[in-house]
Order: sequence, then structure tokens, then C-alpha cells
Amino acid sequence: MIAPEASKIYDHAIEVLKENDLGTYTVPTKGLYPFQWNWDSCLTALGQSHYDEARAWTEIETLFAHQWPDGMVPHIIFHVWNDGYFPGPDVWQTGRPTPTSGITQPPVAGFAVRRLFERARDKELAARHARALLPKIDAWHRWFYDNRDPHGEGLVAILHPWESGRDNSIDWDEAFERVPTEGIDPYTRRDTQHADPAHRPTREQYDRYLWLVQHFRALGWDNSKLHDASPFQVIDPGFNAILIRGCADLAALADALDEPEIARANRVLAEIGLAALEGLWSATHGQYLCLDRTSGTLVDSASIGGLLPVFAAVPKDRAHEIARTIERQSAATRFVVPSHDPADPRFEPKRYWRGPAWLVMNYMIADGLEAIGETEVAAHIAKSSLDLITHSGFAEYYDPLTGEACGGGRFTWTAAMVIEFLRQAGS
Ligand code: GLC
Repeated sequence: MIAPEASKIYDHAIEVLKENDLGTYTVPTKGLYPFQWNWDSCLTALGQSHYDEARAWTEIETLFAHQWPDGMVPHIIFHVWNDGYFPGPDVWQTGRPTPTSGITQPPVAGFAVRRLFERARDKELAARHARALLPKIDAWHRWFYDNRDPHGEGLVAILHPWESGRDNSIDWDEAFERVPTEGIDPYTRRDTQHADPAHRPTREQYDRYLWLVQHFRALGWDNSKLHDASPFQVIDPGFNAILIRGCADLAALADALDEPEIARANRVLAEIGLAALEGLWSATHGQYLCLDRTSGTLVDSASIGGLLPVFAAVPKDRAHEIARTIERQSAATRFVVPSHDPADPRFEPKRYWRGPAWLVMNYMIADGLEAIGETEVAAHIAKSSLDLITHSGFAEYYDPLTGEACGGGRFTWTAAMVIEFLRQAGS
């Protein structure tokens, strides 16, 4: 049962989800992001499942209907033409029947589908949907290790900051210096027409984002070539943790559905990933750090990407230490979890992934902390998340110092996470 004051927020969250629902997929928010985004959809399905299980399955199935033949699931599906977003299909030119982008996003599908399956009221319906998705998610996981870990290090690299889902994090600054800006086609940004430019990536960052897109496009989006040809190859501990969790969850799901081969393969991937992740631990920061694969060095940047590994089954002492790091950061901000350490002079409380708090991150971190018994820190994160909603509505992200709403408004995955937090608190 949900308390009456919370039930108003709950209803409002469903309203936001329905408003951004285009029938078989949701858009992150109208205006700023008018297409289907990969990990937004997977996390959104969790929220939808509380009021319409069939609709939740459709959300993920629509995404996987656009999986590439090589196994990659693209980060954006351009279902219907809309000129409100840049770069659109004419820039990506991936040649897919329904246009898509040519890069991927954090593979949270394995986690989401297991959760949908386990909480399903209609088990038969859920088994049917999960069974059909199982080999597709498995193919995506294998795609990562084949194409993004070509030398068998056990960790996968992102080749574009947009793949991380944390577009302009401080984590990428150093490696991004290696990406040129010469020769990019002239362009007009659309994001800054929908949101305050001071809350968004800079012009220089955008130039580099586009240089990479043009570079990969010139290679025909051939995933067997992109990794080695990319001047940007970064191993993000958060991204890898999501993949590891996805593999472990897919293995559990495959066991439940009697698919031993998929179960075995994914369990092995998760184990290899967990062992390799240990090389990214920083005792100084009490968290994991990114590794720049090109230079072979750890990136001295304490971002939320290094806290997210609690979402995977990292060693318990690491997870407890991350909980302490979060507590330390909480003392410096009114709301948690900031996407970058507030003690770092590069921290910017309103600029996208360089400081603001995001509810999707809060949800995954709280989930991992809860699982290892850090219930107080997890409860604090959940409370802070709901306080942000009461304070500022369903925003894209929030200034952790003031709680001010930043970026786009009436945001789908923010609303989905609110539903999740409320249901967890109420059940
Ligand atoms: C931004 C975010 C990314 C998200 C997308 C749509 O690009 O950085 O994580 O998927 O918006 O909401």
C-alpha cells in the first residue's frame, strides 16, 4: 500500500509516462528527445509494468526489433521523422530499414527483463515474452565482448561518450582531447533550443561528438573496424557493471526458462568482467575509475560511473567502501547522488553529467546497496530522490546543491524510477 501523499506523486508519474507514450515505445520527453532511446526504454518498462505488464514488454520488444544483424542494439531508434533533434538520421546514415544511430548504450536490458519476469503477475505471458527476448539479449552481450573487447581483457570500451549514457562526464575530458574537431560538417544544435545552454554540453564537446560520428560513418559503421580505428576508447566501470549485472541476470533468467547454454555463457562473461573490474579500483577515491584504453592509464576523475559498480556483484568490501564514499559526498550536497564528486574543482552542479543528480543512477545504486545490506544509505538515496520530485517535479536531472530542476521537463525515466521507488517503499 502506498501512503496517500505518495499516491498523488505516483499518479502524476503515470501521467508523465502516458504523456510520452507513443503506443509501442516512449520518448524520453517530448521536444528535447523525440525518439526511442535504448536504456531509457528498458528502465521505463519497469515503471510501466506496475500498471500495464503487456505494455512494459512491448517497450523492450520494440527496441529489440531494431537490433542490428551483428547483435548491437542502437542507442536511438528514429521511428518517425522529427526535426527537433540533432543529429538525426541524415547525419548518422546507418542504412537501417528504420533509421537508427550507429552506437549503443548501457545494456540494462538483461536486468530489466529479469525483473519484469520475476515480478510478473501473469507468469505465462511473462515466460513467453522473456523466452523470445533471451537470445536477442544474449546476442547483444556477446556483441560487446567480440567488438568492444577485441583483445580479451574482460572489460568493454565505449567509443563515443554518448554510449556511456553520461554524455559530458568529466571522465571523458582527457581522452576527448585526442578527438579532432577539423573537417566536421556545419551544424545547428537543437538541444540548446529546448534546454538552458548552461545545463548542456559545450560547443567544443559537440564538435568532437560529431567528429566521431563522421569518422565511424566513413568506416561504414562496420563494428569489426570501429574499435581499433577510434581515437576514443574508454573503459567505464559503470557501463561494465551494468553489462556484468545484465549477464548475471540473463543467466538467472535463462536458468528459470531452461536455456542452459545461454545461462552458462552469460555466467562466464559476468565472472570474467567482475575479476577484470578490480583493476579499476582506486583506494584514494574509495571507488572505481575509468581506464583510458589508448593510453593505458586510469582517469583521475571521481564520477558516479565509479560508484555504479555496486549494481554488480563486486566484492563486498568494495561495495561497503562505495557506500562510505556516497555518505561522504552526501555531507556536501543537499540531495544525492551527485554525478561527480563535489570536492573536485571541476564539479558543476547544473551541467548535465558533471555534477547533477539523476534518478536512474540513484535507482541502480540503491538497488545494489540494498542487496548487500547497506539499507540506510539505500533508503537515504530513495528518500532524496522522492524529495527532488516534491521539490522540483519530474525533471531530467537536478542540481544536487539546491534541488533545482535542470534540462528537460516531464521526463519519462525519471517518472518510471519514481514509480519503482514508491512501490518498493510501499510493498
Ligand atoms: C541524454 C542522456 C542519456 C539519455 C538520453 C535520453 O543523452 O545523457 O543517458 O539516454 O539523454 O534521455
